[in-house]
Amino acid sequence: MEYDLKKLDKLAKKTLSAKRYYHTQCVVQQAQKLARLYGCDEQKAMVAGWMHDICKEMPREEQLQWLTKCGIILDSVQESQPKTWHGMAACGFISEKLGITDPEILHAIRFHTTACGHMTELDEVVYLADLTSVDRVYPDILPMRKLAETALKPAMKEAMRYAVNDLVERSLGISFDTFQAYNVYMAY
Ligand SMILES: [Fe+2]
Ligand SMILES: [Fe+2]
Repeated sequence: MEYDLKKLDKLAKKTLSAKRYYHTQCVVQQAQKLARLYGCDEQKAMVAGWMHDICKEMPREEQLQWLTKCGIILDSVQESQPKTWHGMAACGFISEKLGITDPEILHAIRFHTTACGHMTELDEVVYLADLTSVDRVYPDILPMRKLAETALKPAMKEAMRYAVNDLVERSLGISFDTFQAYNVYMAY
């Protein structure tokens, strides 16, 4: 299926704040780059990039409605962490509003925040694109970006170590999906 990427760009531009739109543009670029490097479907990676944060600035109640609509059930940790909702909400939003129902795209968007224990290469590309896009600034961004562009599984392993460590340091709960992802990637 051909996707109208220009239409998705326009929707992101009109829906998101300037800062979030710029982040989205950067994630799309990085997702295309990583998809090409690892032989994933570039178009699907770019669709996921354009739409991954489309619900991020919606009121929480609305996010909850969208994710419930597509049958997603939150675990107790996710319930207490509204920041993890927007990827799941985007699945309901884009399938209903745009007719985008490709399960690979929806899966990559759904798990771009929490990760999960059964990630495809497309999921990994989108997850790492979000973490290493050019707008990102955090202490280890340069080595993390280099790793993401060199070795997919080791990059996911490092990303999960970083993500879980961050949750621990902030005394936050670890959702079941993140916990499973951590265990899967530590085995690499
Ligand atoms: Fe996000
Ligand atoms: Fe993002």
